[in-house]
Amino acid sequence: MTAIEARDVVLSFGETPALRGASVAVDPGEIVAIMGPSGSGKSTLLHCLAGILVPDTGEIHFDGHRIDTLSEQERSMLRRDRFGFVFQFGQLVPELTAEENVALPLLLSGARRAAALAEARPWFARLGLDGLERRRSGELSGGQAQRVALARGLVARPKVLFADEPTGALDSLTGEQVMDLLVTSAHEEGTTVVLVTHEARIAAYADRQVIVRDGKVNALVGA
Ligand SMILES: Nc1ncnc2c1ncn2[C@@H]1O[C@H](COP(=O)(O)OP(=O)(O)O)[C@@H](O)[C@H]1O
Ligand SMILES: [Mg+2]
Repeated sequence: MTAIEARDVVLSFGETPALRGASVAVDPGEIVAIMGPSGSGKSTLLHCLAGILVPDTGEIHFDGHRIDTLSEQERSMLRRDRFGFVFQFGQLVPELTAEENVALPLLLSGARRAAALAEARPWFARLGLDGLERRRSGELSGGQAQRVALARGLVARPKVLFADEPTGALDSLTGEQVMDLLVTSAHEEGTTVVLVTHEARIAAYADRQVIVRDGKVNALVGA
């Protein structure tokens, strides 16, 4: 059984076709990079896989269940309970400390504050963020903030981590450090990862690469 899968997904924004029959299947624990030029439909495909967007036609399957037919509320609960997210600009909550940001998914799932913070803290050592627990996002470098966002994405032990250009706002060395930590943590946790990037250097961290062109998915030639 695949962890997450798109079958023949078609989606248009008004007159603009974004996906024209996109299919991709990711195995449990696998890290797949979705590559392709800007505007090719990578983020749209990620949003469909994650139950954020609903395809016009086609199907999304998670863990043996079709999820594109669920209600908005059911998909929202699925995202909260089973999926983690990392975006290009960490999107930390500026009013919260780093450890509160990491604890946030647990708090939203109903964990008590002390328990959520206790779960959050080990991620700081794990991701090389020791001593930064009480900083706010404005007091973190770009790379530090993105590692906090990665911890937040993984803290609830999601089945699937969705990462959309997670290093897009970082310089190349910092980006590689974040990718190293993302890949190591995901493999340790057995987390399936859908990684969207337009950079070959970043995609190379994945177990497998696919390319989106004109709204369809092709295997990377030579991979
Ligand atoms: N919310 C939206 N409204 C209208 N058009 C959109 C929207 N999101 C994406 N598009 C269009 O859909 C196509 C695919 O976009 P996207 O999936 O964001 O590409 P990528 O992530 O590969 O850069 C593009 O033509 C883009 O302009
Ligand atoms: Mg995009």
